[in-house]
Amino acid sequence: MILVTGGAGFIGGNFVLDWLAGRDEPVVNLDALTYAGNLETLARVASDPRHVFVHGDICDRARVDQLLATHRPRAIVHFAAESHVDRSIHGPGEFIRTNIEGTGILLEAARAYWNTLQGVAKEAFRFHHVSTDEVYGSLAADDAPFTEDHPYQPNSPYAASKAASDHLVRAWFHTYGLPVVTTNCSNNYGPFHFPEKLIPLTIVNALAGRALPVYGDGLNVRDWLYVGDHCAAIRTVLERGRPGETYNIGGWNEKTNLDIVHTVCARLDELRPDANGPRSRLISFVADRPGHDRRYAIDARKIGRELGWRPAETFDSGIRRTVEWYLANPGWVANVQSGAYRDWVNKQYGAST
Ligand code: NAD
Ligand code: DAU
Repeated sequence: MILVTGGAGFIGGNFVLDWLAGRDEPVVNLDALTYAGNLETLARVASDPRHVFVHGDICDRARVDQLLATHRPRAIVHFAAESHVDRSIHGPGEFIRTNIEGTGILLEAARAYWNTLQGVAKEAFRFHHVSTDEVYGSLAADDAPFTEDHPYQPNSPYAASKAASDHLVRAWFHTYGLPVVTTNCSNNYGPFHFPEKLIPLTIVNALAGRALPVYGDGLNVRDWLYVGDHCAAIRTVLERGRPGETYNIGGWNEKTNLDIVHTVCARLDELRPDANGPRSRLISFVADRPGHDRRYAIDARKIGRELGWRPAETFDSGIRRTVEWYLANPGWVANVQSGAYRDWVNKQYGAST
């Protein structure tokens, strides 16, 4: 079996669902169920004996040791993190705790467990660290996309905490020989995405007739990847990636934020027309994010060349699936918009949004 951390979040949840849909190997899923963790995402596998959900914190060394000793996984896929840049600006403490300390604790627990393995089991073991393109900093309009050799230049507390975790993972390979792989991925979108991030926030607000907040001039660029493609890439790296290597994962889909918001509005207008007119009328330019990175773009040639992975979705097909999913799942959306969610929206955008 494999141990997944953060498997009740957006990408981890999609990963667990896809994994169990495609193979019989069980998953132990360790998640602290922060505001971003949601057991409803895992409803489809709630009574599946191949899915063992454990409510716990990656910073709890004793708990992690006990899980490893009990379940004896052949791999750890580490998603658990604080993941929202804006929240890291309001309060970096949790990012330092979970992303840096938590990863350190997990690495130490993994190392102790790995040292108990022998022969083929020891050789085959993997610690897969899921990271982000934000560690590389910001690109100018005409810069080449990020390769795996790009210098680390993180700019937000979130990015800095992920960069620190990447460095820990690298050091555990070089110093202790722990067989790690790291993937640095661009912006994901798709089902079960918490509506604090740009695409789900735009969908949810547009359906409710609320303002669609666009930071600054709306011309910041992100490289969008459908979450199912990211999960497929992780499975590929887990199977065939070389220990100690890093692989960049991206969708070859650079878009400005304004483009994204207009596209989401157009899909919603097409699939669920609004009697009041096109939803793009709701676009509202708001104060920029402090330290806002201008452009991210991933050069995903290494994983294509060495491991044969390429994204299956185009942006058009992926965004259509995503909008359709949100239209078909109003219950999931309603349930994540709890009091805590409203508190965040009021803090970040003011009560009018
Ligand atoms: P998310 O915020 O949706 O989910 C994070 C999950 O981790 C939640 O279920 C939460 O409960 C859990 N968690 C948080 N702290 C924990 C702790 N101390 N112990 C155990 N569980 C804890 O995040 P996501 O968007 O699914 O991102 C998953 C991973 O992928 C993160 O490491 C993130 O940095 C990385 N990543 C995300 C994106 C993206 O576009 N969302 C892109 C590249 C990389
Ligand atoms: O690049 C990978 C990263 O992508 C991941 O590591 C992070 O975990 C993930 O949250 C995401 O970070 P971003 O900051 O790029 O995503 P977000 O959806 O928050 O913002 C996308 C862009 O849209 C960014 O330029 C800021 C802008 N934005 C965002 C929000 C929430 C707006 O203009 N308005 C908004 O209300």
